[in-house]
Amino acid sequence: MKRKLILDVDTGTDDAVAIMLAALHEDLDLIGVTTVNGNAELHYCTDNSLRVLDYIGKPEIPVYAGCPKPLVRNDFPIPRTKNDLTEKIHGKHLPLPETALKAQKQHAVEYLVETYRNATDPITLVPVAPLTNIAAALAVEPKLVDLIPEVVIMGGGHDVGNVTPAAEFNIWADPEAAYAVFNAGFEKLTMVPLDATHKALVTATQCRQFDELGTPAGKAMAACTGHRIGIHDKIQKMDVEHSAPVHDALCIAHLIQPEVITLEECPVDIETQGALTVGRTVVDKNRRGGKPVNCKVAFDANAQLFVDIMMDTFAKNK
Ligand code: BDR
Ligand code: CA
Repeated sequence: MKRKLILDVDTGTDDAVAIMLAALHEDLDLIGVTTVNGNAELHYCTDNSLRVLDYIGKPEIPVYAGCPKPLVRNDFPIPRTKNDLTEKIHGKHLPLPETALKAQKQHAVEYLVETYRNATDPITLVPVAPLTNIAAALAVEPKLVDLIPEVVIMGGGHDVGNVTPAAEFNIWADPEAAYAVFNAGFEKLTMVPLDATHKALVTATQCRQFDELGTPAGKAMAACTGHRIGIHDKIQKMDVEHSAPVHDALCIAHLIQPEVITLEECPVDIETQGALTVGRTVVDKNRRGGKPVNCKVAFDANAQLFVDIMMDTFAKNK
């Protein structure tokens, strides 16, 4: 049986790749996409998600728009400036054709609550964006902790920050929501932080190979990731020349081939107060805090396997 999943996104040049991999891989059944404020304002993230699904020939996968602001911080992280990294890496619209597809009428949070209440099969939840929708759904229905069998989150960083020296964007953009989710008590919670995604880099040469596949997914992958590489080369260079992380897609690759990341059990908590450290994922690798393990954390990734999974999947998208 295919593995069912719901993807919570703020699409986004790397969310776009995650959507394509989840929608197209033969072992996965992407039953719904929920969107949230993050890389851009909510309506852009929703429209971009619809563009991706239309472009790869999956218009039947429903998209639900969710929360337009963080849970607590009304003006955080908006306003975005022309110089901030998020704006440059994602822009507003993806480099994909416009779509006539529309989001569903139901709110993403209602969709999550209703779907998990009525689920008869296990549905993995994969949030790769600020955790606002997930925290709001938990507030509406605390039993989601038991109803959601597995959560795989792209977010956080132990040795690496990207939006501040201490914090990764998804957690920083709604730290109170992240606090609620990490402390909710999920039985199976996996965190895929920057430490892993910065090991799973995609190069400019590989981008050309994606383009040469000639399929919609191959071309969209090349356009989105090529853009990311151009920006990373200018303002946040990676260890491998002319390369970029494609963070969110690594969570999906892990559902397909778990060994693409290397996991370690750790207690993880979220800093919501620190003037310099707000949004930090505090990963207690050495067990100094006495808090029980609540999470598996990815510290490493296999870049070649990651690219192979995407290349095989996108080649089949005729
Ligand atoms: C995460 O932040 C967003 O900008 C990306 O889409 C990814 O989910 C990386 O820090
Ligand atoms: Ca994202």
